[in-house]
Amino acid sequence: MPDVSILNVDLHGRTIGTLTRVAGDRVLFAFNEAYIADPERPTLGLFFKDQAGALRTDFPPVQTKLPPFFSNLLPEGPLRRYLADAAGVHSEREFFLLWALGRDLPGAVTVTPADGEAWPPEAMAPHGERHPPQSNMLRFSLAGVQLKFSAVAGARGGLTVPASGVGGDAIVKLPSSDFAGVPENEYSMMRLADLIGMDVPRVDLVDIDAIDGLPDGAGRFGGKAFVIERFDRLPGGGRAHIEDFAQVFGVYPDDKYRKAGMRSVARVIAAEGTDADIREFVRRLTFNTLIGNGDMHLKNWSLIYRDGRTASLAPAYDFVSTVAYIPGDRFALNYSRSKDFAAFDEDELSHLSVKASLPAKTVIDTARETAADFLGVWSREKHHLPMFANVRDAIDDLLSTLPIARS
Ligand SMILES: Nc1ncnc2c1ncn2[C@@H]1O[C@H](COP(=O)(O)OP(=O)(O)OP(=O)(O)O)[C@@H](O)[C@H]1O
Ligand SMILES: [Mg+2]
Repeated sequence: MPDVSILNVDLHGRTIGTLTRVAGDRVLFAFNEAYIADPERPTLGLFFKDQAGALRTDFPPVQTKLPPFFSNLLPEGPLRRYLADAAGVHSEREFFLLWALGRDLPGAVTVTPADGEAWPPEAMAPHGERHPPQSNMLRFSLAGVQLKFSAVAGARGGLTVPASGVGGDAIVKLPSSDFAGVPENEYSMMRLADLIGMDVPRVDLVDIDAIDGLPDGAGRFGGKAFVIERFDRLPGGGRAHIEDFAQVFGVYPDDKYRKAGMRSVARVIAAEGTDADIREFVRRLTFNTLIGNGDMHLKNWSLIYRDGRTASLAPAYDFVSTVAYIPGDRFALNYSRSKDFAAFDEDELSHLSVKASLPAKTVIDTARETAADFLGVWSREKHHLPMFANVRDAIDDLLSTLPIARS
């Protein structure tokens, strides 16, 4: 029985390194020589650059999990359990999960077994795996907690989840088992963001019954699903590379509410992005405060590498008003010193600007404009969008407490 297995890591279809699993369930990542030597190399992630901008090449082995960059490519909640179960892998054994799901991952990275498709015997032992992979298992991965699938537009404009799971260019998010009307909420918030001029992908709200290929049981409660066009999939089948800020900072998904705040996110955007990225960042910060979104953790902000090398802020996703579900909710991460929605004022923005080397005037002007634009669109649209009444009322209540909505 081999005690070493290897996964090739490809970026834009070219092998750039390997993940190696050695005895004791330890995993090592290494770049290959050709990638290291290439001065025009495409960027895998900012975590792999050192302070001087040079490629980091020395990474410690990790136990059972994958290194953080790769761990963050895997789902967290029910989708992880579902996919792991179909693959016959324990959901904590990330190397074998990636083995099964690596052809269709977030961004332009793909992962394939170096020694062919034969399922390694050590994947089945010794940590409680029960059965070999199911022949019809879905082989794709998306991050996040909510149950979701990657789908393609079908012949008559409908949506289909491909039988292999691979090749989708839209994300279908099913309703939450904890809160009512989340798809309607997310659709409404993304439409509002779009109406005030933010960078928002095409979104839709569809009948779950009209989606083909959902696994048995996934859509059994009916109702509507939220659909968003994928910005990491290009017309014609190409992929754009993306990474989220948990990947940027090298932290595991479990630490997405800790280990870094908006200050650190802002610092990266100030250093890597353009003025347009900084303004879009401030718009999102302001917008998500106004709608009372307490879930803008590190995995809900991403970078995109449109030319393969240069980072800019990826389009918006996962905007949900959470105050209706969690009264008294706060922003997921510190703005600069505080998480309270009501602490988001010009003083906090000045503090953030100084700490993150952002241009303070641009930041404050952008926040003011965003608030003014939002209030106009909100009063015009709030009775026309499909959000439930409790969401609308919770946002109205919150707005009356926010300094940024009064200035
Ligand atoms: N339009 C999109 N294009 C490409 N990737 C996307 C898009 N929307 C979301 N993603 C990716 O899919 C992941 C999951 O999406 P999303 O954040 O909407 O799900 P979620 O399960 O609600 O997340 P959370 O765990 O924050 O509740 C994101 O972290 C991001 O990597
Ligand atoms: Mg999310």
